[in-house]
Amino acid sequence: MELEAFVLASQYLSEVETTELINEAQAEQFRIKFLGTKNILKPIFDEMRNIPNERKKEFGQLCNKVKTLAENKFQETKNKLDRAKLNQFESIDLSAPAEPYNIGSRHPVSLVMEEMVGIFERIGFSVAEEREIEDDWHNFTALGTPEDHPARDMQDTFYLKESATMLLRTHTSPVQVRTMLSQKPPIRIIAPGRVYRNETISARSHCQFHQIEGLYVAENVSFADLRQTLYYFAKEMFGATKIRLRPSYFPFTEPSAEMDVYLGLETERDQRLTKGTGWLEVLGCGMVDPVVLKHCGIDPEQYSGFAFGIGIERIALFKYQIDDIRLFFENDLRFLRQFGPSNIF
Ligand code: PHE
Repeated sequence: MELEAFVLASQYLSEVETTELINEAQAEQFRIKFLGTKNILKPIFDEMRNIPNERKKEFGQLCNKVKTLAENKFQETKNKLDRAKLNQFESIDLSAPAEPYNIGSRHPVSLVMEEMVGIFERIGFSVAEEREIEDDWHNFTALGTPEDHPARDMQDTFYLKESATMLLRTHTSPVQVRTMLSQKPPIRIIAPGRVYRNETISARSHCQFHQIEGLYVAENVSFADLRQTLYYFAKEMFGATKIRLRPSYFPFTEPSAEMDVYLGLETERDQRLTKGTGWLEVLGCGMVDPVVLKHCGIDPEQYSGFAFGIGIERIALFKYQIDDIRLFFENDLRFLRQFGPSNIF
């Protein structure tokens, strides 16, 4: 009896050691045989009571060895098969080149915006950011455009459904108002941001775009200061040597002007973008109307100021030679990847 039990246990041990487990079915069979609820080791363990005391320890160790070995073997096989299942489609090749890490790229509008912000920061302007949902008063009234004023027709406005007075700002000029209401002169800010107009979407115009507003209010600010600031900007941004200011109209500046930058007519692109004139229209500007200063609690007798507003997309179109503004808002990766580090992959 005693010998038989030892022999059986040893046989099981070598069976556990030598059984080859290649697939799930074999592993499952093995589990049922050695580890299941009716496994063949159980009767052997039951033999323990028939083993004489002096050999009990030895027998116990042998039985435990079989059991532990069976457990380990099953677990290892299972792990191996699970891993193989995971790697079925992508077996790990440590020598393969790493997956490219896509770090994305800057949006061309952001690139141009940041370049402009940098240019103005170098001469002491600081960035002011404000809300895109504005009220009627900040977007129009305070800027010299009361209700029923025909100038409101210049900009087709998106009003919020629930409200007759809340709207998506049609320009960044309300930031002028908010800044003047909350700061005392001298004020020198630029305000980059998104604006909205209810316009038909085409290659040339969109219902959303970006502007950078500039505002300088202090004592003795003159039109010459405005011109010189804009000339510096044109030189830095376009390498331009000439600018011109054409008389224009905005309800919140007096006098008002539009600035053109001279790009020349050397290339076919210059010809096309300037319609054969060599001049590119870049921004609107003017001296802050004293009425606007008054609306914002600034004494027009003591202070004067200038303001300007630059459309960013127009300049990005020019800079990157893009001929359709809609591309900026479609988030097509094939387009966006051309503007940043991720195009190295
Ligand atoms: N807000 C004007 C526009 O959107 C531009 C502008 C800004 C003009 C500041 C003058 C001064 O057309």
